[in-house]
Amino acid sequence: MNNIKGIILAGGHGSRLFPLTIGTSKQLLAVYDKPMIYYPIYTLMLAGIKEILIISTPDDLPRYNKLFGNGNMLGLKISYEKQIKPNGIAESFIIGKKFIGNSHVCLVLGDNIFYGDKLVDYLKVGLNNLKKNSSTIYGLDVINPKEFGVVKFDSKNNLERIVEKPKLFISNTIVSGLYMYTNDVIEIVKNLKPSSRNELEITDINNIYINKNKLRLIKLEKDISWIDTGTYDSMLKASNFFQELEKKTGEKYACIEHMAFQLSYIDEKQFLKLARLMSNSSYGKYLLDKLKK
Ligand code: DAU
Repeated sequence: MNNIKGIILAGGHGSRLFPLTIGTSKQLLAVYDKPMIYYPIYTLMLAGIKEILIISTPDDLPRYNKLFGNGNMLGLKISYEKQIKPNGIAESFIIGKKFIGNSHVCLVLGDNIFYGDKLVDYLKVGLNNLKKNSSTIYGLDVINPKEFGVVKFDSKNNLERIVEKPKLFISNTIVSGLYMYTNDVIEIVKNLKPSSRNELEITDINNIYINKNKLRLIKLEKDISWIDTGTYDSMLKASNFFQELEKKTGEKYACIEHMAFQLSYIDEKQFLKLARLMSNSSYGKYLLDKLKK
């Protein structure tokens, strides 16, 4: 059986958020109390993935390295690769070929945040599809589909193809930035040609899998929030969302240090070490409180 590894794509210019992202990577910006990249790491942890490759720009990689090192502190194995230019999301599988080896792979875009109690169940379905040699995309309905990869259904409501940023209305169902691919993605990507916007398109990979009848669409229902971080307003909304959630539940979401402890990836001594490192912040105090309980 193939093992599964995770890739987080966290590069790009971030120009839609200038000047916020002139000095740093978009995926390091704060979403409430933690860097944005904590959320996709948490998603991968929920899927039980421990080996993670972070792909980012040559300028930003040292900052991720400072944050996570080799991942050991969280009981994970984190490695890094550069993407020299934003040549497209699909380039992840060229850059990550060696890392992927003979495993299956789950790619999460570093700016995609998923929240919901049932998330783990949706992830399990994708993992099961991989066992049956099928890949998975996660779709959901939005009111502004034109900005995304949009799902075209046939007359029987089956997945027909994905159209990247269509000019005309196709459907409200879009493809989110969470993909689970079988190992052959590293072969498929070799034959891709750059699109008119000069990128290797993830949508082309999805359409190749559709043609082979090897792609499953899992529709995320209302029990999952997919949180966009594309604009100043949506970033603020995302921060408010997680602040409100913590006020309501008393729990932090995507607290990867606590998750690592709960999953026994790290022992109490290591968890305490992480908590003490941050004990000046309320985040660190929250971790220390977890140990008292
Ligand atoms: O968010 C979901 C959407 O992501 C999908 O519906 C689309 O099918 C998919 O193409 C993509 O849409 P965008 O064109 O809006 O992606 P964007 O260029 O904003 O890139 C998404 C993230 O990936 C962003 O944080 C930057 C990073 N990225 C992107 C490219 C093209 C890289 O790190 N390197 C790249 O080469």
